Amino acid sequence: MNILQINSSIRAENAYSSRLADNLVAGLRRQTPAAQLVVRDLAKTPHPFLDETALIALSTPAEQRTPEQAQRVALDDALIAEIQHADIVVLTAPMYNFGIPAQLKAWIDAIARAKVTFQYTENGLEGLLKNKQVYVIQTAGGKHSGTETDSQSTYLRTVLGFLGMTDVTFIYAEGLAMGGDAEQLALQAAATQIAALAA
Ligand SMILES: Cc1cc2nc3c(=O)[nH]c(=O)nc-3n(C[C@H](O)[C@H](O)[C@H](O)COP(=O)(O)O)c2cc1C
Repeated sequence: MNILQINSSIRAENAYSSRLADNLVAGLRRQTPAAQLVVRDLAKTPHPFLDETALIALSTPAEQRTPEQAQRVALDDALIAEIQHADIVVLTAPMYNFGIPAQLKAWIDAIARAKVTFQYTENGLEGLLKNKQVYVIQTAGGKHSGTETDSQSTYLRTVLGFLGMTDVTFIYAEGLAMGGDAEQLALQAAATQIAALAA
């Protein structure tokens, strides 16, 4: 059993999403003590954005790549290998300006690779990252779930499904900046859901 935890908050300390992810992972590891854990922090170790240089490197046959191109492709290869080996993926998605963190988008751009993590066949699209249980922890200052401003979950469900990850559970901690007891209630609700998932 391999667990991959992807932290994407820009806050190195005290990020709610990373803390909730830690709690979920701790619960999952209590269930399966032999589980191996890989934590990738996309803010501490930012992945380069997909740009034209990367696109050209990726579309150049491996044996014709320059050392720089090979190096760039290797960075994406490492992320792909991590997700291929994971049985459980714990993804954090804090809301920034009504979307996922740019760092998380860079990770998605890295792992979405034709003929490796998805392919088109005569029967249509096939996602190749199969048989994974995915948990997405969404944090937000306001409240968005169930409304059209929750574009994060729609996007993540679509792109993860495209890659073959169809078993996705969302855990929300919202209203964290709304004052009063909103923060406490949101964290409590998320903790209760996490405790049930890891029971
Ligand atoms: C740059 C920035 C942009 C934000 N944009 C939004 C937003 O569009 N909607 C919202 O509800 N909260 C927004 N927030 C609040 C965060 O979602 C909230 O602080 C959340 O706790 C961040 O997750 P973290 O604690 O895991 O870092 C924003 C926060 C920051 C720092």
